[in-house]
Amino acid sequence: MSKLWGGRFTKKTDQLVEEYTASITFDKELAEEDVQGSLAHVAMLGKCGILPQEDVEKIQEGLHRILQRIRRGEVEYSIADEDIHMNIEKMLIEDIGPVGGKLHTGRSRNDQVATDMHLYLRKRVVEIVGLLHKLQEALIEQAKANVETIVPGYTHLQRAQPISFAHHMMAYVSMFQRDIERLQDSYKRINVLPLGAGALAGTTFPIDRRYVAELLGFDGVYENSLDAVSDRDFIVEFLAAAALIMTHLSRLCEELILWMSTEFQFIELDDAFCTGSSIMPQKKNPDVAELVRGKTGRVYGHLIGLLTTLKGLPLAYNKDMQEDKEGMFDTVRTLQGALQLMAPMIATMKVNADRMRAAVYQDFSNATDIADYLVNKGIPFRQAHEIIGKIVLYCIQNNKYLLDLELAEFNQFSKLFDEKIYDVLQPMNVVNARNVYGGTATNQVRDAIARAESMLAAT
Ligand code: ARG
Repeated sequence: MSKLWGGRFTKKTDQLVEEYTASITFDKELAEEDVQGSLAHVAMLGKCGILPQEDVEKIQEGLHRILQRIRRGEVEYSIADEDIHMNIEKMLIEDIGPVGGKLHTGRSRNDQVATDMHLYLRKRVVEIVGLLHKLQEALIEQAKANVETIVPGYTHLQRAQPISFAHHMMAYVSMFQRDIERLQDSYKRINVLPLGAGALAGTTFPIDRRYVAELLGFDGVYENSLDAVSDRDFIVEFLAAAALIMTHLSRLCEELILWMSTEFQFIELDDAFCTGSSIMPQKKNPDVAELVRGKTGRVYGHLIGLLTTLKGLPLAYNKDMQEDKEGMFDTVRTLQGALQLMAPMIATMKVNADRMRAAVYQDFSNATDIADYLVNKGIPFRQAHEIIGKIVLYCIQNNKYLLDLELAEFNQFSKLFDEKIYDVLQPMNVVNARNVYGGTATNQVRDAIARAESMLAAT
């Protein structure tokens, strides 16, 4: 059989053109969705009396047979048939005869491909939200085990104030929660049906778009046929959400890599998630974390790629839009691959609580608290800051930390210091002093964990 659109042509397509324009090598990933959309479309054609019921049944049976063959990996796609839509239609006609040619009544590949993309992304978004929940669970478990694990908190990667390690884990839970909400919000725009828009202007057949939407589980149909076939915003939104998820994963991975270094030794990633060196026998490398960080770049690339593809396109469909697929498929694979590994990697991570605790005794991260101590005695904060700065300088010059100072030494800087300062300076007290909603005090962190757990339980 020749091209499905061969009628007005007098010459064969150039071989290189065929290869250049074909999308079957990658859009075969939409096979399930393509059949699913066609089944609903033909059911509607029957219901609206556009096709006789016996034709509808033949087409449906044929489509089911093709789907089984696809699932069993028995079909061979052909470049000459360009894309998944025409490959499947051709198979249908081969299977049930010319009646198969009635499937495309009242439909165009333009609204068909858009429908497939909506069906595809809808499924993937649900899966990705599920994976994000799994990662949140792993982070929460680590948080629960480490509420009392005190660790330096950093700004500028310089020791700033001690915090609960659980608080640090819960920061990522919050980030991933926003990611989940972004995906859930984008779902509203993904779950809208373009089918029925025809090539661009609608169709002359008395179709029922809402019936198709209902069959496919869409919440509504596109308002405008031109927009329906040329809109790829929903993919851009997905790529943007994915880019931000990768940003968050990458930041987490950067921290894991840093914390696993000999310089930090705050954590150890499980052997199952690390690899060795072909030359240095002592090495245990956090390759997974590095690759997640590294793969963030390609997801950003796909976002910018699609935005750039779309920016100059006149309405409605243009072949350029075929370029929406590979980046989306690769993003889904990259994101799912990363998330599938991150959850167990976090769950099996060993936290070196002793090392973390020891670290906060070897820094000045309790300095803010003596400033606050003087403020509580009535000294203006700016002046307290100056006094403590001098104390820190004195310590550095004398090779001491704040807890090493005698009360007499404190009193050289201010008479307001008394024995209570030694309590104030204890790292655990420093942490617990930050007893505000969202702060690092252990009771606040416990509350935050409880809130996150009940939120997860409600999903
Ligand atoms: N393979 C095409 C794509 O992915 C399907 C739509 C083609 N429509 C057309 N009129 N050429 O965009």
